[in-house]
Amino acid sequence: MAGRIAVIGSNNVDLVTNVPRMPGPGETLAGAHFATGFGGKGANQAVAAARLGSQVTMVTRVGEDSFGREVLQNLGSHGIDLAHARVSRGTANGVASIFVDPSGENVIVIVAGANGTLSPADVDAAADDLARCDLILLQLEVPLETVYHAIRVAARLGVPAILNPAPAAPGLDLAQLKGLAWFCPNESELSMLTGLPVTTEEEIAAAAQGLLFHGIANVVVTLGARGARLVTAQGVKAIPAIRVRPVDTTGAGDAFIGAFAHFLAAGEAPEQALRQAAGYAALSVTKPGAQGSYASAEEFAGFQATTVQS
Ligand code: RIB
Ligand code: NA
Repeated sequence: MAGRIAVIGSNNVDLVTNVPRMPGPGETLAGAHFATGFGGKGANQAVAAARLGSQVTMVTRVGEDSFGREVLQNLGSHGIDLAHARVSRGTANGVASIFVDPSGENVIVIVAGANGTLSPADVDAAADDLARCDLILLQLEVPLETVYHAIRVAARLGVPAILNPAPAAPGLDLAQLKGLAWFCPNESELSMLTGLPVTTEEEIAAAAQGLLFHGIANVVVTLGARGARLVTAQGVKAIPAIRVRPVDTTGAGDAFIGAFAHFLAAGEAPEQALRQAAGYAALSVTKPGAQGSYASAEEFAGFQATTVQS
């Protein structure tokens, strides 16, 4: 049974240039290819979950411009409920300028635009629908006060919330995360937020375990091509990755989180949901772009039939 998920977060239009290598300061380079795509961590996670079959609603802010209109149209085309997607008057939509090199690695510069106007009041306005969800999904491309407020509202409503603390925000106050069901940093976010080294398995476990003392129930550390680690009071479980040839890693973390939310909301056990998420993210890395690389449930099932997780 597919679950209901609310994503409270960002949307962007991605401006993606494929470069032969990353340019240095003052350098002019000829890029090989340019494309626009739909992105933003919130929207990416929402689309991944919706593509897999979840019922998704998005609490988000678009700009009063052509990008904003296109974003709404795109979210709607994936069957995402837009009752709480609002236009911020006189504001530009969020954008991300992205360079992708031949190894699939990227650099990203985001301009928040309308994402910077998503407010605690927007969360309150959606409360009735949030109460009907199985999961609430949060990231850090909208104001921190809105994220903290959403965590409190989720706790009050008794709906488990997942926070993916991306992009890395040095100002994130761990004391505000009390009551969070799931906290899902990557290794650099984990290191930055705890001030601890994360170069060995033991260090990753110790840093993640420290977060449990802030009133967080479960920590999932994503490690890219090395899979993920589920860290709870019961201990650490390793989630293996699926090896693929990378084309574009943009939005792979969002594919992971969106798929994890989908399988969790559908009632799968956490470890199983994480294994599926690792597979879904791996498949996204083999295709260009963020949302444009997210598989449907059918495509994902086909991919899974051809892979062995080791
Ligand atoms: O996580 C990938 C996303 O980060 C891109 O889609 C871009 O919009 C930035 O928000
Ligand atoms: Na991709």
